[in-house]
Amino acid sequence: MAASSKIMLLNGPNLNMLGVREPALYGTDTLDDIRANCLAKGAALGLQIDFRQSNSEGELVGWIQSARGDHGGIIINPAAYTHTSIAIMDALIAAELPVIELHLSNPLRREAFRRHSYVSEVARGVICGFGGHGYELAIDAMARIINDAGDGA
Ligand code: DQA
Repeated sequence: MAASSKIMLLNGPNLNMLGVREPALYGTDTLDDIRANCLAKGAALGLQIDFRQSNSEGELVGWIQSARGDHGGIIINPAAYTHTSIAIMDALIAAELPVIELHLSNPLRREAFRRHSYVSEVARGVICGFGGHGYELAIDAMARIINDAGDGA
């Protein structure tokens, strides 16, 4: 499979707790359920989804660095690091790949401290507020970006 059809899909801290973590906000699907849907969605679109989760900022930075030259794009739900991590933002810039920011909830409807995203500064676009379905929407959007390289929209 060509490098560009491999998509890194990263999940930040506490997303391993999906299913039991604040289900009214984040839904009842587990991260394993979401992973299975993402792999199936990717396969239908000819994309290999490299789905990972970490509670560690450094591990996420390392994975973003490793995507450079090896993956065609990065979809990231940075979870709380969205609002705090210049390190993740800098790593995404250095990767020189299309980035889609993703959230289950809509952070703009929540507490004021969630209204700023370092990742939005470098993301092509943001998908939020659609729960687990947002992951499939993000894969669709990334497929379009990769198949239509040069679309600077
Ligand atoms: C989240 C939103 C973040 O504000 C929060 O810290 C999360 C999850 C989401 O998917 O809705 O952990 O990224």
